[in-house]
Formats: sequence, C-alpha cells, structure tokens
Amino acid sequence: MAETKSAKAVSGGKAAPKKKTSAKKTAAAAPACTPKKILFVGAEVMPFAATGGLGDVMGSLPAALRAKYGEAADVRVVVPLYESVAPEIHASMKTEAVFNVKLAWRQQYCGILSLVKDGVTFYFVDNEYYFKRGKLYGHFDDGERFAYFCKAVMEMLPRIGFFPDVLHANDWQSALSVVYLHTEYRQRMGYENIKSVFTIHNIEYQGQYTFDILQDVFDISPQHTPLMAYDGCINLMKAAIECADRVTTVSPTYAQEIMTPTYSHRLHFVLARQSGKVSGILNGIDTTYYDPASDKDIPVHFTADDPTGKAACKLAFQREYALPEDADAPMIAVISRLAAHKGIDLIVRVLRHVLDTHPKAQFVVLGTGEGEYESYFYQLEKDYPDRVRSFILYNRALSKKIYAAADIFLMPSKSEPCGLSQMIACRYGTIPVVRETGGLYDSIKPYFENEEGMHGNGFTFANYSPDELEERVRAALSLYGDRGRFAELRRRAMVTDFSWDASAAKYMEMYKGM
Ligand code: GLC
Repeated sequence: MAETKSAKAVSGGKAAPKKKTSAKKTAAAAPACTPKKILFVGAEVMPFAATGGLGDVMGSLPAALRAKYGEAADVRVVVPLYESVAPEIHASMKTEAVFNVKLAWRQQYCGILSLVKDGVTFYFVDNEYYFKRGKLYGHFDDGERFAYFCKAVMEMLPRIGFFPDVLHANDWQSALSVVYLHTEYRQRMGYENIKSVFTIHNIEYQGQYTFDILQDVFDISPQHTPLMAYDGCINLMKAAIECADRVTTVSPTYAQEIMTPTYSHRLHFVLARQSGKVSGILNGIDTTYYDPASDKDIPVHFTADDPTGKAACKLAFQREYALPEDADAPMIAVISRLAAHKGIDLIVRVLRHVLDTHPKAQFVVLGTGEGEYESYFYQLEKDYPDRVRSFILYNRALSKKIYAAADIFLMPSKSEPCGLSQMIACRYGTIPVVRETGGLYDSIKPYFENEEGMHGNGFTFANYSPDELEERVRAALSLYGDRGRFAELRRRAMVTDFSWDASAAKYMEMYKGM
C-alpha cells in the first residue's frame, strides 16, 4: 500500500541515484534473451526446512521472480541439507557434485544435491556431520557449520557449471559467502563478475564470535581483521555489509529504522557509512499457498466477494476446540513467537482487562517462546476456560485455521523487519492491530472514514504503550459491533495486494542495475 511512498523515501533518497543511468544502459544494452542469473544463499527454505520468515521468503521470492520473468530469470537457491528434509524429497534429489571443502586445516566432505520446483533449481549442501542434527540452529558450532556452508557454496560454482551474475545472501548464516567472494574468490577465474547482495531479515542476529577463531574456524587471514571486527569481536553481518555491493532489508521503513540506535543493535555506525547502498524492499507472501478460496487446511472456503465461509470457519473452530459456538462472538488471535520484542509483553498487560470488559470476546494464541509468556497463556486458559484457547506449540495447519476463524489479529511488535503474519491475517479477513514499525507500518494502514469513504486495512498505533494497544483493540471490537462497516474493512483487508509481484520487480530492477 503506502509502500511506494516509503520506498521513495529510502531507496529514492539513497540507494538509486548515481547508478541510475548505468543501470538503464545495462538493461537496454543486454539482449532480451540473456537471462539474469541469481543465486540465493541462506540457512532455510520453505517447504524443505524452515523455522520462520526467512524460510518463507527464500521459498517464495525465487519462484515469484521466475513466474514474473520466465526464462529471463535463471534463479537458483542453495541451502544446507538438514535432517528435517522429508525422506521422500531427499530421495528425489539428483547428485550434482561430490568434493572436499577446505576450511582452514579441515577437509570436509561435500555433496551437492538438487531438485527443481516451480522452475527454480534448489541445491542442497550435504554434510551429515554439520547438518544431520535435530534443529537447524542453536548448536555450539554454528559459526563453523555456516562457515563450511559458505565455503561449500563458493566451491560448488565451477563444479555445477553455474557462475551467477548476482550472489544474493540472506542473514548472518550466509554472510561469509559475500565475504569469501570479496576477499578471496573474485580473484579467481569465473568469479570476477559476480556481484553480491546481502539482505538483512533481522538485524538482531549478527553472528558474533571471538577473534581467536578468525583463521582457525572462519579461514580468514588476519590481514582482514579490520573488516571482520566490530565492537571488540568478529561480526559476520557487519563484514557482509562492508563487502556486499548492495545491502537490502525487508521493508523500506526498517531500512530507515536500522540507521538509528533504537533499532540497529549497534550496527547503525556501519550502516550509516554504507547508506548509499542500503535500501528496503517489502516482502510479499505466497498468495497461492495462503488463499482462503482454496486452502485445504481450513474447513470452509471463502473470498473477499463472498466471505460467508469465514463465519463457518469460526463456528467449526469453536466446535473443534470446545468454545461456545457463537458466530457473533469476536475472536481475537495472536500467532507469534512468544517473545517480548513481538509485543507479547504489551498483550499480557491489556488482555485480561479487555476480556473482562468484553464478556463475549474469545481469545486464541498459537506459538512458543519465553517461559514467562507460555505460563501466562496456560494460566489465562485456566482462568477463562470457556473463552481462551492457548496452543503453546507451532503448527502451520492450525495457524491457518486460526487465521480463517478469527476476527482481530494482534501484532504490536517493538520492532518488525517485515512481518508476514499481518499480511496472512488480512488475506484471511482477520483485521490486524499493529504497532507502526518496520514492515507493519508499510503494510497496514489505519482505518478511518471521511467524506470520501473508508480508508485503511487495519488498526495501528505509534508508541510502544499498553494504553495505545488497548485503545486500538477496543476500537476494533467496537467496529466489530457494526456489522456492515466491519465487513467493509474486512473486504479492504482481503483485497490488499500482498503478492510478490511488485517487490519481485523491485529486486529485478536492482539486479539489473548492478
Ligand atoms: C525475519 C523478520 C520478519 C521478516 C522475516 C522475513 O523473521 O523478523 O519480520 O518478515 O524475517 O524477511
């Protein structure tokens, strides 16, 4: 929606200017049939192995580029081959190459497997010692695991016969691929013309390590210490920001926010110095996967034009989870990691009050996270047994049932690089109440009415304050009481364009301009 406005504010002001003419020239000079070769590098990808939003983006942006540009976009993706990849998918993969990766004094096995989905080739880096483990991250040797992964990505290129025009790395786990390209591989044949993009999905996780492992684990010569160093330690994200040709983040507003100490987790000094190459492009969602008109995880289908099935989804949910069956009871939902920075601390401070003053309202939460919040929601269900359901787990199918059943969706994050849940909620006709930050600000516009009619697609507030959240939740509940108007706002939310189309075009424009 207002994404264009903010996009101008960031990329128009900073990233684009100097290169614009040359960008145009390159695009014009290149014959239409030369495909742009893009290699996405990252630690997770949907539907193969994912824990969060990064996986959604890695799983849907490449396919969106391919769908939009066809043969003109040769888009490939490389991720580790985790244990959690389903055996039948693993069995369907083709072996592309087998070799050893040298990382400092280590020589490690590396298999490159591949499969093609939606016109995108996915490569999987196979090394069971590093990746055959229960969870994707959170191991004592994550630094070494992802250093190995990044070296393997560099080493696989000649072996699979694919040198991309753009290496597009995502978050700290793939930061070293950009660093290795810059410090070492660009001097080698085939790598000279590879440009790099580094996308920050969340600046909080930077990959910080002590200096003593620079050579031994990361295989980086001490001459590069100034490049790698930040705040007295090795900082992989900082190094990638320095080395990449372009740095992007997942919404225009977040691109501005991370220039400030409040949001930067201390990286604003580096980003400010590099601001000329930083811009923000809003994520989209996979609108085929998240489609209430055909979603097989929800009991009754519905559309913006015919939303009657939505009430049936609510009744079915109430029946299944033993809540009073009442299509008129407003249902408030939270689907989130239960962490303070997601605004759960604000929710906790207002929820009982809201429930006590709106005796018909029902509340559903889905997610896991900090123990304090998990206990809070367990207790809340005990205290309101016929009004609250707390699912302290994560389950994608259940999440979609909740999006389809609920009326109001709370997402009052302290910071939110992009956020996908607010978009999914809209798509399923559930009105978001969000704080105006990052991608929430860029995707959800405040409801109001004037002589021209209704505006916006949700409820928003500016300050990280429980009072402001409570006031907006009450406003949403009060609008819920006005059937016609609530239905109109619901329709507006459902027809908001959250597809990748516009953003895929922005990425392509950036790749071409490099
Ligand atoms: C991270 C961010 C989230 C964003 C996602 C995909 O998970 O926290 O806001 O939507 O990455 O870019």
